[in-house]
Amino acid sequence: MKKGRILTGDRPTGPLHLGHYVGSLANRVKLQDEYETFIIIADVQALTTNFEHPERLPEDVRQVAMDNLAVGLDPEKTTILVQSMVPEIAELTIVYSMLVTVNVLRHNPTIKTEAKQYGYKEVSYGFLGYPVSQAADITFCKANLVPVGVDQVPHLELTRKLVRRFNELYKPVLVEPEAMVGEIGRLIGLDGNAKMSKSLGNCIYLSDSAEEVAQKVSMAITDPARMRRNDLGHPNVCTVFTYHKAFNSTFVPELKKECETAGIGCVDCKKRLASALNGLLDPIRERRAKYEADPKLLDEILSAGTARAREEGRKTMADVREAMHLDYF
Ligand code: TRP
Repeated sequence: MKKGRILTGDRPTGPLHLGHYVGSLANRVKLQDEYETFIIIADVQALTTNFEHPERLPEDVRQVAMDNLAVGLDPEKTTILVQSMVPEIAELTIVYSMLVTVNVLRHNPTIKTEAKQYGYKEVSYGFLGYPVSQAADITFCKANLVPVGVDQVPHLELTRKLVRRFNELYKPVLVEPEAMVGEIGRLIGLDGNAKMSKSLGNCIYLSDSAEEVAQKVSMAITDPARMRRNDLGHPNVCTVFTYHKAFNSTFVPELKKECETAGIGCVDCKKRLASALNGLLDPIRERRAKYEADPKLLDEILSAGTARAREEGRKTMADVREAMHLDYF
């Protein structure tokens, strides 16, 4: 017996990185045996910012699918689906759009941050409304748990409000989901920026080679007060130390002491981080290679997952139509 159903997913705007890993992917893998798991590749949501480049989607969708499989999601157990090919999600989005005001959407903190990041002076209807569509992503299969990074929490709050509103107004047929935020809900960038993010260009991708990882880590910001090898370090203000805490926790007490007493220099400390990260990424690279070598297998997984998701979507939309008296004949 499963404990319930998970739905979570990603926007295919590029390969996934360590921030995605600690925020959500690690939990997906951990929970796939306990929960029936659905992973959505949100290509329509990607279009809310990348609408000028739909030609990138086929490659980006496959890369994100491979990222999910490479971290250890088992296609025998989990359903991986492509958002645009489950039209029931679009139908449900329209229903939800009546139940939220434009003003509420404009105050969503994640939307505000992203609009600023993308330099939007004005936002499209689709961009402003993507959290509504995300509510449909989550609820079309009646998921009750959503592993996500902390920036997604406002979207989960909206989802819960929409479900409650629907259930009160019409008929209680929808399930109110809960967010599950990863141990590290937001990973700082190696450049010291508050967030690892593709648009900030400070990412370590799950698909990076060992050399790329070592190179990126060697450029990371450390304790600014530690200029020379013999200066004593302050791990608590050091980006590299934050990464040790996230990815190399066994050695944290030792590294803290070594840094504070100038026993270890930043160069060596970074080498140790790169090696810990590569230890995490090596098995991921290996699994990825299997799917890279067999594009047909990947497409089969995606089309089977999408078909399975559609079944759930049809059932939920039948409930929704009945609840709203839209089942005329
Ligand atoms: N907004 C999420 C992100 O940017 C991606 C996403 C789309 C999602 N639909 C979802 C996450 C449903 C959780 C549940 O990463």
